[in-house]
Amino acid sequence: MKILLINGPNLDLLGTREKAVYGPTTLPEIEARAQEKAKALGIELFTFQSNHEGELIEKIHAARSLGIHGILINPAGYTHTSVAIRDALLGVGIPFIEIHISNVAAREPFRQKNLFSDIAVGTISGLGPYGYILGIEALHALLGTETR
Ligand code: DQA
Repeated sequence: MKILLINGPNLDLLGTREKAVYGPTTLPEIEARAQEKAKALGIELFTFQSNHEGELIEKIHAARSLGIHGILINPAGYTHTSVAIRDALLGVGIPFIEIHISNVAAREPFRQKNLFSDIAVGTISGLGPYGYILGIEALHALLGTETR
């Protein structure tokens, strides 16, 4: 099984960015733990982070030719604004889980608008970096029967 982990804008700043909200863990640490979990489950995990909407879209398009079975995506600030990333995910038709480190439902009103939740397989929010591990486990469990 092949899974693509995508992290959107400003998540490269994890570990130094608003630590009270996002905690001390860096993105390389999150990706390393995700790789460990993926390896244990026999998953080939691809990781990608970008601060640019177009690059995120290009990577979602490329997921098809990479033979990706499922996507785990933290669209970050684009969660609340990006019709284009939403359309890319719909366009490639690859099932995805949406993840957020913070509990978005408990935050500002402008974050309550979400362009991904209604088309995601499911959403993980507020569980910190652990959510990435759960996301990989969930994709493995839910897509497992299709790829075996
Ligand atoms: C986030 C939540 C978003 O509202 C915010 O813009 C982010 C990170 C999270 O992981 O909690 O950049 O997606």
